[in-house]
Amino acid sequence: MSASPISPAPAPNRTTVWLDGAVMDGREARVPVFDHGLLYGDGLFEAMRINNRRVFRMERHLARLSAGAKALGIELPGGLAGMQKIVLETAREHAEPDAYVRLIVTRGDGGLGVDPRSCPHPRVICIVGAIALYPADKLKAGIDLVTVSVRRPTADSLDPRVKSLNYLSSVLSRREANLRHADEALVLNDSGLVAEASVANVFAVLGGELVTPPATQGALEGITRGALLDLARELGISAAERPLGRFDLFAADEVFLSGTAARVVPVATLDGQPIGTGSGERPVTVQLAAALARLGDTTGVPF
Ligand SMILES: Cc1ncc(COP(=O)(O)O)c(C=O)c1O
Repeated sequence: MSASPISPAPAPNRTTVWLDGAVMDGREARVPVFDHGLLYGDGLFEAMRINNRRVFRMERHLARLSAGAKALGIELPGGLAGMQKIVLETAREHAEPDAYVRLIVTRGDGGLGVDPRSCPHPRVICIVGAIALYPADKLKAGIDLVTVSVRRPTADSLDPRVKSLNYLSSVLSRREANLRHADEALVLNDSGLVAEASVANVFAVLGGELVTPPATQGALEGITRGALLDLARELGISAAERPLGRFDLFAADEVFLSGTAARVVPVATLDGQPIGTGSGERPVTVQLAAALARLGDTTGVPF
């Protein structure tokens, strides 16, 4: 396990922001203090990736946003077409061929009470810039994962399938991992089985089969996760969604994380124990990462 805590704040990159109908430099963007996204974490977001001037799996991201908005009772201003227009307009203005997109919909400005009826107009914010979750050398060598004490909220309190603005559970799990000098957190659900990492899905390769827990185990239905399951099947790698325990990760030949920001991140150790043989050979992870990169470069909504 590495000796030093990971990831100090990244250097401020140039960002382009769509806010309340105007596109601006990120340093100019200001949100009123009465926005319920700030006051209560009341809202939701999507993170998308731009590869080669195309937004990867945009329709799936927007479908997830739409399902989450319904669950929270927030109407997307302009509907899905409105969301798509905002993302593409901000991406065009940003003009970088490869970037990270954060699309946010808050309940909007309202009173100091929690009652959502005081917020008649949801607010949309779109940020296009860059993100780096882990140091570049770690992406190759593999990250150190620790099992944290913070559990994924259950579906009857805060359904993890809604990508809401309330990310305290993810923040606290990552903080615990930082304090323990690891790169990332393995987060369990209330049954003690694997839910996901703080902001990424978990995969294991067990006897040649790719396995990831179903979203009902406490994971977000990751768009990258879905793409990897599709790619595995196309590549003839058998793939399944079924519950995993820590036992399975210790027994696995390979473990990796997936996410829009992270893409495919190999896991070198779990709780100090090397994954697989410890040789650093990860044929399935490498094959899937390459296939995902190819898919990202050749598909997506162009702008
Ligand atoms: C909690 C959580 N799980 C999983 C993921 C991975 O999902 P996706 O592949 O859609 O980025 C994310 C991404 O931000 C996340 O926040």
